[in-house]
Amino acid sequence: MENRTETKELEKIIKKYPPEKRYTLSMMQDIQKIYNYIPKEALKCISNYVDTPTSKLYGIATFFKAFSLQPKGKNIIKVCDGTACHIRSSMVILSEIEKQLNIKAGETTSDGLFSLETVNCVGSCALAPVVVVNDEYYGKVTPQEIKKILEKYKGGGRDAFEEG
Ligand code: FES
Repeated sequence: MENRTETKELEKIIKKYPPEKRYTLSMMQDIQKIYNYIPKEALKCISNYVDTPTSKLYGIATFFKAFSLQPKGKNIIKVCDGTACHIRSSMVILSEIEKQLNIKAGETTSDGLFSLETVNCVGSCALAPVVVVNDEYYGKVTPQEIKKILEKYKGGGRDAFEEG
């Protein structure tokens, strides 16, 4: 991660903002959005740019759940384990995904294609159990549907999954 091209790209993102501390969060949000995580190098760049110690930036990155300091997969799978989803066997869905991707919740596949997480209620309880991939919601998911859903993100084709 620490090479010159990377640093240049990071600086480009950061320097869209004036070198003021109050823009720190916005810079971090942009980086998280583009890289799916915040590389160490990014914290160094921001630290130099807005003249804030990296330790403080680490604090921010760990405080906000939206930020990750670990590289994440291209596609983020969130299995809802709120009460409504839990009652409707969200853990069966989770273990089916774990089995198919050969990773555990909190991990990323070795090809960098998927990260798997469990989350609390995503606000669609009527559709429990719910799985969210990136920004796409899948409701009333059954273990049999998992393969089809995952396939959709493997080939890059977004229309492979037909509802019903
Ligand atoms: S508990 Fe899963 S959407 Fe509410």
